[in-house]
Amino acid sequence: MADFTVGDDGFRIDGRPVRLLSGALHYFRVHEAQWDHRLAMLRAMGLNCVETYVPWNLHEPAPGRFRDVGALGRFLDAAQRAGLWAIVRPGPYICAEWENGGLPAWVTGRFGRRVRTRDEDYLGAVRSWFAALLPQVAERQIGRGGPVIMVQAENEYGSYGTDEVYLRRVAEMLGECGVGVPLFTSDGPEDHMLTGGSVAGLLATANFGSGAREAFRVLRRHRATGPLMCMEFWCGWFEHWGAPPVVRDPAQAAGALAEILECGASVNVYMAHGGTNFAGWAGANRSGPLQDGELRPTVTSYDYDAPVDEYGRATEKFRLFREVLAGYADGPLPEPPPEPVGPAAPVRAELTEWAPLPAVLEALGEEESEESGVPPTFEELGVDRGLVRYRVAVPGPRRPYTLGVAGLRDRAVVYVDGELRGVLSEEAADLAEPVAGPAEVELWVESLGRVNYGPRLGEPKGITGGVLHERQYLHGVRARALRLDAFDEPGAVAGVAFAPVDGSGTTGLYRGAFEIAGADGLDHAGLELPGWTRGFVWVNGFCLGRYWSVGPQRTLYVPGPVLREGANEVWVLETEGAGAPYVELGPGLPVRAGR
Ligand code: GLA
Repeated sequence: MADFTVGDDGFRIDGRPVRLLSGALHYFRVHEAQWDHRLAMLRAMGLNCVETYVPWNLHEPAPGRFRDVGALGRFLDAAQRAGLWAIVRPGPYICAEWENGGLPAWVTGRFGRRVRTRDEDYLGAVRSWFAALLPQVAERQIGRGGPVIMVQAENEYGSYGTDEVYLRRVAEMLGECGVGVPLFTSDGPEDHMLTGGSVAGLLATANFGSGAREAFRVLRRHRATGPLMCMEFWCGWFEHWGAPPVVRDPAQAAGALAEILECGASVNVYMAHGGTNFAGWAGANRSGPLQDGELRPTVTSYDYDAPVDEYGRATEKFRLFREVLAGYADGPLPEPPPEPVGPAAPVRAELTEWAPLPAVLEALGEEESEESGVPPTFEELGVDRGLVRYRVAVPGPRRPYTLGVAGLRDRAVVYVDGELRGVLSEEAADLAEPVAGPAEVELWVESLGRVNYGPRLGEPKGITGGVLHERQYLHGVRARALRLDAFDEPGAVAGVAFAPVDGSGTTGLYRGAFEIAGADGLDHAGLELPGWTRGFVWVNGFCLGRYWSVGPQRTLYVPGPVLREGANEVWVLETEGAGAPYVELGPGLPVRAGR
C-alpha cells in the first residue's frame, strides 16, 4: 500500500518526492450530480489533489441527530475516480464563509465563548461528532488504498486564540478516531498567528493571496525545515450583500501562483471552484480590522472569482493557471470536460398562488413559545436558519414614544396593530414613527447568517436584548419559529392555505410553475426575481438560497439536476416586499473573461 510522508526535505509518496498541486472544492457547495464534472475540471487545470472542509452544522443539526454524514465519503470516492489525492479539513471550526464557521448553533448556544477552547463539555461534543464522521476518512486513507493524504487540525486557530491545550486535544482526537495520515495546521503568515495556531510536531502551513516569498520567509522563522505549502492561495474573494462586487485580475493571480511554485512550495488554490451557499448556509463577517464592527452577511453565490466559475465553466483565470501548472505536471494535462449548458431562451415562471406569512407559520412553523419575560434568542428556540415572529404588547393608555429593539440580529419587519410600520436592522433599530399604547407589536426577525470569523464568532441571533418603548423594556413576549428546514420535508407546503395571487407587493409565500422541454440536457439555469426584495427561493423543493435586492448578486444558480422534464414548481418566500408575480430562468451569467 502507498504511503504519504512529511519529511525535512518535503512531501513524499512511496518515497518519491511530490509537490501537491491542490484545489479547494467544497462538496457541500456543489450538487452531488455535478461533482464528477467539477473534479474533472480541476484535473484538467493541472491539479493533482482536491481539498475540502466538512461543515459540522450541516451534518449534525441537533445533538446526536446526524444528516447525510456519508456525503464526505462519497465525495472522496469521486475524487479518487478523478485521479486526485485528497486533503480533508474537518474543523471542527472551518470559517469558510459558512454559517457560524461550521459550528452548529446548538453548540455555540450551549457553550458560548467556551467553544474552540479546552472546555471539556465542548470537547465532548466535538468527540462525538468526530466519532460519527471520521471513519469515512480513516477508511479512505492512502495507506488503505484511498485518496486521503493529509488532514487539518482546526482552522487558522491563530487568528482566534492561544489555547495550545485545545489544539493538541483536537489533533489527538483525530488520531483516536483513526486518522493516521500526517496532520497539519494552517494560519496567516504572521508571527502571532503562527505562534497561536501551530502545534509542535505538526506541519505548519500558511494562507495568503500574494507575496509568497515574504510569507514563506515568515513561515521559516517558525519551521526551519520541512515542506513549504500555501494551504489557501486566495485567487479571488467572496462578496457581501450591499457591497460592491469583488474581482481579482487573472494575470496578477496567475503571477502570484507562479511565485508560490517558484519557491519550491506546494499549493492549495482557494477556491479552485467555489460553488453556491444553497439553503441559507452563507455566513457573515463583521466590518473593521478587528472584525467587530457592523454585520456584513455573505451572498448566496460562492463563485469566489475562482478559475472554474459558479456555473462550472473555465474562465480566463483557468486558462492562465493551467499554463502555470502545466510546467509542473508529470505529463500532458487532460482536456477539460464539455462546457455546461444553460437554457437557450429565458423561461418565465408565473407565480399564481400566495399565502400570507401568518398562514405559512401556521402550516410550517414550530409551536409558539409560552409567554416569557424577555424574548428568547434563536439559539434558545433551536433555530439555525429561518425567521422568528415575536409578539409583545405595548400597555396603555400612554402617549406615543419611540419603539425599538436592543440587540437586534439581524433584521426585523415590524407590524403595529397589523399594519406594516418599518424594517429595522441592528444599526437602525428604531421605528421612524412613535407608537402609542395600547398596541400589539409583531416583529418578524430574520437571521442573515451567523458570523464565521473573528471575536464575534458564535454570537446568538434574534432579539438578544429586548423590545424597548422609550427606555422601558416591553416584557411578556411570545415567539414562534419558521425554520428553513421545515421546507425540506416532502410535500412541505401541502398544508399551506394558498389563495390566488391578487396584485403584488405583499410579503408571504408564493407558488408557481414552469415547463421545460429537454431538461435532461441542461446543466444549469440562472434565476432572477425582478422587483422582489428579500427572501428565499426553491425549485422543485431544492432551496437555491437567499435573494436580496441590495445586490451585488442578482442571479441565483439553479443546478441542472434539480430541473425536471415537463412541469417544475417554484416557491418564493418574500419577507419584505414582493415584485410582479413571476420569476425568470435564463441562461445564467456570462463567463467572466479577464474582468
Ligand atoms: C480564511 C479561512 C477560510 C476562508 C478564507 C477567506 O483563510 O481559513 O476558511 O474563510 O479565509 O475566504
